[in-house]
Amino acid sequence: MTSQPVRSVTVRAPAKINLYLAVGAPRPDGFHPLGTVYQAIGLYDDVTVRPGGSGTVPLRVTLDAADHVEADAVPLAPGTNLVHRAAQLLGAHHGRTLRADLLIDKAIPVAGGLAGGSADAAATLVALDRLHDLETPDDDLLAIAAELGSDVPFSLLGGTAAGVGRGELVTPYVDPAIAEATWWWVVVPSREGLSTPRVFAHYDRLRPDAAEEVVVPDRVMAALASQDPTVLAAVLHNDLQLPALDLRPDLVGVLEAGEEAGALRGIVSGSGPTCVFLCASGDHAREVADRLRPSCEVVLVATGPVAGTHRVEYV
Ligand code: C5P
Repeated sequence: MTSQPVRSVTVRAPAKINLYLAVGAPRPDGFHPLGTVYQAIGLYDDVTVRPGGSGTVPLRVTLDAADHVEADAVPLAPGTNLVHRAAQLLGAHHGRTLRADLLIDKAIPVAGGLAGGSADAAATLVALDRLHDLETPDDDLLAIAAELGSDVPFSLLGGTAAGVGRGELVTPYVDPAIAEATWWWVVVPSREGLSTPRVFAHYDRLRPDAAEEVVVPDRVMAALASQDPTVLAAVLHNDLQLPALDLRPDLVGVLEAGEEAGALRGIVSGSGPTCVFLCASGDHAREVADRLRPSCEVVLVATGPVAGTHRVEYV
């Protein structure tokens, strides 16, 4: 059997939320030590690559954005999007230039605290690896991902996982009680994004006494293993919520509206401004979402955990 050249590869990468996020004092390199629990939720960007690109522009990037995504906020010019850097680093790892036409099909809100840019970078690594038949070992992909950004390794892995270091050192929870549970989330993005460095810098101003080391307390893992949403609701925590709300006081109203609509608990996701609300079941989440729709422009329902970056089409 003769093998046909690959015509296109489509790879899907999930959004992440932080169920727990403790932030320490800035390290000498400027990054903050994190003790976090990530969860991948069912809100995805798809990246499709095809043979293409040109001599001067090895990676030609186009965008197809869902209605709720601020398409203008996505940088596409050469060198401006994390997908370009992903292609460069993967190419450098293999000593070659990786050419392709790349389409980002975007449903993850931009600059929303959901690691959408990281998802695109992770999807690009996997898609280009398949398109060019590079067979990059998983550990090498994870190392390149860590270089691309703190959240990118988790985008590759998905599921529910603990993150330490600057967030790039990720350990999946393999306990079946945690891995096989399903949690229901109502996700309320915001039209206007928040800059992650700005939120971290504001955290430093508000918390000059932050600890040098931070950990995820055992009660978070126990709450996950309980599979009881009311127990998990009680341990949800985000140190970046305070600075995010200070920079965006309108989010206080969003959090209040979600809890008034019956959600078990609402928190800001990562550096915000997206707010996520834990609900008790699918029916409960749809009910909370319906109640929020008149006052919030975009309201989504998603479950977690879901798989990390994976190939969905190969033709
Ligand atoms: O790692 P990443 O490139 O996604 O981080 C974006 C920015 O967020 C960093 O430049 C830094 O300002 C801030 N950050 C941080 N500490 C972390 C992660 C991110 O200060 N652990």
